[in-house]
Amino acid sequence: MNSSAEFPTLLIDTDPGVDDALAILMAQAHADVVGLTIAAGNVGLGHTVGNALKLVEVLGARIPVHAGCATPLVLPAADAAFVHGVDGFGDTGYLPASGKASDEHAANAIVRLARERPGELTLVALAPLTNLALALRLDPQLPDRIARLVVMGGAVSGRGNFERVPTEFNIGFDPEAAHVVFEAWPQFDLVDWEACVRHALAFDRFDAMLAAGDARARFYASIAGTARRFNQANGRPGMIVADALAMAVALQPQIVTRAEQRHVAVELGGALTRGATVVDWERRHGRPANANIVLDVDQARFEALVARALGAARFA
Ligand code: BDR
Ligand code: CA
Repeated sequence: MNSSAEFPTLLIDTDPGVDDALAILMAQAHADVVGLTIAAGNVGLGHTVGNALKLVEVLGARIPVHAGCATPLVLPAADAAFVHGVDGFGDTGYLPASGKASDEHAANAIVRLARERPGELTLVALAPLTNLALALRLDPQLPDRIARLVVMGGAVSGRGNFERVPTEFNIGFDPEAAHVVFEAWPQFDLVDWEACVRHALAFDRFDAMLAAGDARARFYASIAGTARRFNQANGRPGMIVADALAMAVALQPQIVTRAEQRHVAVELGGALTRGATVVDWERRHGRPANANIVLDVDQARFEALVARALGAARFA
């Protein structure tokens, strides 16, 4: 399949994860997916790889799955099983997929695929950036070979969702990896946690889409229960599907209605702030903007992308 603006070719680095799962359903519905590279994050690597393989099976797709790093680059970090379930997919006890992961490490797969398809791939990073940082160390020219990088991560005004207040999960889980990527990548799209909160899916609409959808929606409904309950019990404005929003931006950049270009750095020290994304909003340091910070998207178009991925035509 040839890449085009309408039907991009994606490489997805992910730690499935309930919102990762929705993002991958969207990718399969709207793009050509050349691989899933898997990180630890939401839960341990054994589960995130198993969940990726299960999704590929549910989709009836032939997408290679590459296991990556089992730990952050430097320091251990707490996972997000309290949101996604101990297995990362709502603890439904699903029958494991019969497919196996590739023998090739995720970081090597990122390097190889970028070389095989120079200028063609949109890399969508939905996990702690451990695999991508490692790939950058293996191939410092990687950014030249990737058409576009979209990162779900950060909290650009300090309202995070990690154990340290200003920190978002993907960056807080592996700040050194995020630092490596943010320093090396000249230009990327950043879909931060705060934008994801603004673009939550209203609970009743989310439920209605799942009820109206096909087998994909039924599988998704089965794994999303724990996360949905967590969102509702914690006073969130709806079901926050962070990775799905990042995927929407990757699939249709034109859905972005408000964005700002700024330099973003990652705090590596700080008992209260490690992993925070520090945005030079006032351009005081004069460093070129590395991030296109997505602030808002067209909600109706975002939801249409979600609905089509769930087979809920009535909402698309
Ligand atoms: C991000 O962290 C993970 O828990 C989600 O899958 C998403 O990638 C949101 O902060
Ligand atoms: Ca994720």
